[in-house]
Amino acid sequence: MTERRLVIALDGPSGAGKSTAGRGLAERLGYTFIDTGAMYRALALKALRAGVATGDGEALASLLSRTAIALADAGRTVSLDGEDVSAAIRTREVSDAASRVAANGAVRRAMVERQQEMGRAGGVVMDGRDIGTAVFPGADVKFFVRADPARRAQRRHRELQAAGQAADLGAIEQDVRERDQRDTTRAESPLVRAADAVDVDTTDLRPDEVVERMLAIVRERSAVPAR
Ligand code: DC
Repeated sequence: MTERRLVIALDGPSGAGKSTAGRGLAERLGYTFIDTGAMYRALALKALRAGVATGDGEALASLLSRTAIALADAGRTVSLDGEDVSAAIRTREVSDAASRVAANGAVRRAMVERQQEMGRAGGVVMDGRDIGTAVFPGADVKFFVRADPARRAQRRHRELQAAGQAADLGAIEQDVRERDQRDTTRAESPLVRAADAVDVDTTDLRPDEVVERMLAIVRERSAVPAR
């Protein structure tokens, strides 16, 4: 019997540790990790460059229909129309624009279709805000990942520093709170916890502990072998 390859949804606010955990989990299961936030970020970068307003849903959806976004190396490499934009999409400016771009219904509908196609065959860990609610409401396992906002700001701060971008911790905490506010209150697929999601609070856990906890739940639910 061939092993069933699952769809695992990972949702939660920015900086909660979703991508680190998701990447680790996917690796252990031999699955593909898909960072859907990187897709919104890539479109936001293209819109900024093209001078398309981040609130113009129709223009953005039209731009997206002419855009190739590819994720490789467990989401570490993101290419936009063939150009490696992995670093360019991680700036504060693009973070802010991505959150605005993602608030447009027309953009979300097109992104959701792409993401459903990417996960259709299973064997994926998909990280985002609406994976368990809109992209794969029937996902085999859903996690809702949270962490204390101050801790999330610290993590973003470290990431930006590692990328050589000087940033003020207070300003980042403010950014995190503003983006949370926008992501959770937008009319189109706001960030909400799916009723059947398993909560994982990463505030006081190391990344490897988060992965172990998730892996235990995946095994409990499905008896999949892990490496
Ligand atoms: O996860 P991230 O910070 O890279 O996401 C960038 C932005 O995109 C963030 O403001 C939320 C939004 N997003 C979304 O609305 N839906 C998703 N599935 C993924 C990200």
